[in-house]
Amino acid sequence: MTAAYPALRLRRTRSSGWSRRLHAETVLTPADLIWPMFIVGGEGVEQPIDSLPGVSRWSVDGIVARAKEAHDLGIPCVALFPFTPAELKTDDGREALNPDNLMCRAIRAIKDAVPEVGVLTDVALDPYTSHGHDGLVDAAGYVVNDSTADLLIQQALNQARAGADIIAPSDMMDGRIGMIRSALEGEGAHNVQIMSYAAKYASGFYGPFRDAVGSRGLLKGDKKTYQMDASNAEEALREVALDLAEGADSVMVKPGLPYLDIIVRVKTRFEVPVFAYQVSGEYAMLEASVAAGAGERDALVLETLMAFKRAGCSGVLTYHAAHAARLLNG
Ligand code: PBG
Repeated sequence: MTAAYPALRLRRTRSSGWSRRLHAETVLTPADLIWPMFIVGGEGVEQPIDSLPGVSRWSVDGIVARAKEAHDLGIPCVALFPFTPAELKTDDGREALNPDNLMCRAIRAIKDAVPEVGVLTDVALDPYTSHGHDGLVDAAGYVVNDSTADLLIQQALNQARAGADIIAPSDMMDGRIGMIRSALEGEGAHNVQIMSYAAKYASGFYGPFRDAVGSRGLLKGDKKTYQMDASNAEEALREVALDLAEGADSVMVKPGLPYLDIIVRVKTRFEVPVFAYQVSGEYAMLEASVAAGAGERDALVLETLMAFKRAGCSGVLTYHAAHAARLLNG
C-alpha cells in the first residue's frame, strides 16, 4: 500500500444495494405526491391532451375514479383544474363563482366517494376569463390587483363550501392570502388550509397547461406584471415572508426543477412546509426526451422527484404522480 491510496473510501457504503438503501439521506414515497388533474364536462369523457402525452381531461365520473386510484396508490392529495368551454368564459371570469361549476361538482363528488383523499383547488380566474389572465383587466390591459382579490376571495369561499381541503391561490395578487384567510375564518372554515403559490414565476413552462384548461390561444400579452421575473430570488423570499405573515399554511415554488435554488433558500430561511410544482412544460420536456430515446422514463421521473425532496420539499405536484407511485410501490 502506498500513501497515495485512500483508507477512507466513500465508495464503501455504495458497494451493495442494502447498504445504499441503509445510507439513503432522503426518501421518496407516494405520500410525497400531489396529483394534478383536469376536469371536463359531460359523462364518460376522456380527452387526451396532445401537448401532455399520457395526461387526459376527465369528466367528473372519471375524476372520481382517478381520486380512488390515488387513494389506492397511497397518494394523499389531488389538485383540480377545470377546462372551461369558450361560451362560459367572460371578461370577469364569473363562472368561477358559480356554486355548481365543474370544480365544485368535482370537489363534491370526490369528497362523497373518497373522503380520505385531500382536494387542493387552484384560485385564479384564468380558466374562466375570455382574455386568459388570472384577474380583471383594465382598459390599458393591466391586471388590477384589489378588485381581482375581491373576486378571488369569493372563488375561494365557493370552493371551500363545496368541500375543498386546501385552497391554493396561484394568481400572485398582493394581499390575497390574508384576505382569503380572514374570509375563511369568518365562515368557520378554520381547518381549510391555504397553500400559497408564493414564488410563482412568469414561465415558459406553462404552455401545455394552457392547452389543458383551454386558454392557450386566448391569453393577451403575458403575465409578467403579476408573476415573478426569473432573475429574482430575494423577491421570492419576500413573497414567501408576506404570505406566511398573512396566514399561509404552506408555500409553493413554481416551476420546479429550474427553481431548485429557490426551494432550498425558502426552506433554509423559513423552515415551513414547502411544495414544488413540477409544471406541465417540465412534464412535456421529460416525456419528449423519453420519446427521443434520450432517457429512460422511470429513472428520470424518480430522479427528478427525489431532487425536490433533497432540496427540502414536503411534497411535489406532478403529472407523473400515479406513475411514480406505482414505481415506488413496486
Ligand atoms: C393558473 C395556473 C397556471 C398553472 C397552474 N395554475 C398557469 C398560469 O399561471 O399561466 C400552470 C401549471 C402547469 O403548467 O402545469 N394561474
